[in-house]
Amino acid sequence: MQEVRTLYWVGGTEGRLRLIDQTRLPGELVELECRNAETVWEAIRALRVRGAPAIGIAAAYGICLGLQTVAGQDAAAFHARLQEVADYLAESRPTAVNLFWAIRRMTRRARDLRDAGASPIETHQALLAEAQAIEAEDRRMCRAIGRHGAELLPDGAGVLTHCNAGGLATADYGTALAVVYAAVELGKRVHVFVDETRPLLQGARLTAWELRRREIPCTLICDSMAAMVMKQGKVQAVVTGADRIARNGDAANKIGTYGVALAAAAHRIPFYVAAPSSTFDLSLDSGEEIPIELRAAGEVTHCHGRPVAPEGIDVYNPAFDVTPAGLIAALVCERGVLRPVCEARIAEVLETSATS
Ligand code: MRU
Repeated sequence: MQEVRTLYWVGGTEGRLRLIDQTRLPGELVELECRNAETVWEAIRALRVRGAPAIGIAAAYGICLGLQTVAGQDAAAFHARLQEVADYLAESRPTAVNLFWAIRRMTRRARDLRDAGASPIETHQALLAEAQAIEAEDRRMCRAIGRHGAELLPDGAGVLTHCNAGGLATADYGTALAVVYAAVELGKRVHVFVDETRPLLQGARLTAWELRRREIPCTLICDSMAAMVMKQGKVQAVVTGADRIARNGDAANKIGTYGVALAAAAHRIPFYVAAPSSTFDLSLDSGEEIPIELRAAGEVTHCHGRPVAPEGIDVYNPAFDVTPAGLIAALVCERGVLRPVCEARIAEVLETSATS
């Protein structure tokens, strides 16, 4: 299988970020080269790079790009620019906490270095190393999620997933799809039902593409068919990713996930959420506090640039919804399988520093 890299840095501090332009898949596999923070911001906003962990990594590299023009200036100018770029990139999308987590990690590292007397050039080098560490850690976390989650899937399982939480949504391998990939690597037979995921079709365009590349048996369905295939006994587990998980286990993910969880509960099918620790937001009591991105009406009224609704129709287009913890059988993170899904169990696992 030809290696594809969701996003990667080329060169040293004066280098550039390359990422797969996911809006062009599945028709074309093309990379976009980002040479400044503005291109990264646009790529995140337009979903050229998307998926919670991937946008966090992109933002970390975006900070490195935004600092290229000031690395030779004095510390005051360098750190003022750092704050400006961090605030700017944080405006690109509101729901996935990984974006804010990565930006905070980068700004904290820069502040620690300034306090230790590092020069702007040294700080810029250290920030590139930090962004690369975020990317490398994401790869490791995805593999660990796969290892832990694979045990949840019975041999011969039909697995339904929504949106894309695969290698395209992360540095590599994915979260929800990591569970599938790892189960298949263990020799389990798995058949994936892929929700197309309206309005932007991440399931049809991206998940189906990834699964086909890996030769994993899969069937594409419209979102409205999920309850029916569950009723027909074709699905033994549902696995999705998440964009932000509150302290009580409520999980925001692509719009439609909540409906899938309700349908799974009605059919007594376990609903699992796979996500790295960078997706947990322990500052929020519950999913009620998770900001939900509202996107443009045109994403609903048009398909491939063509109108599919009367001009001027009123549209509501939230990009995410929140699945209550009570509907989630287990959370799978790089530290293990968390169940029951409740505040005490999340605190127990996430507030320790060990990773596996
Ligand atoms: O709008 P998107 O495509 O960025 O939404 C992505 C999702 O909802 C994913 O399921 C989530 O980010 C998890 S990615 C490992």
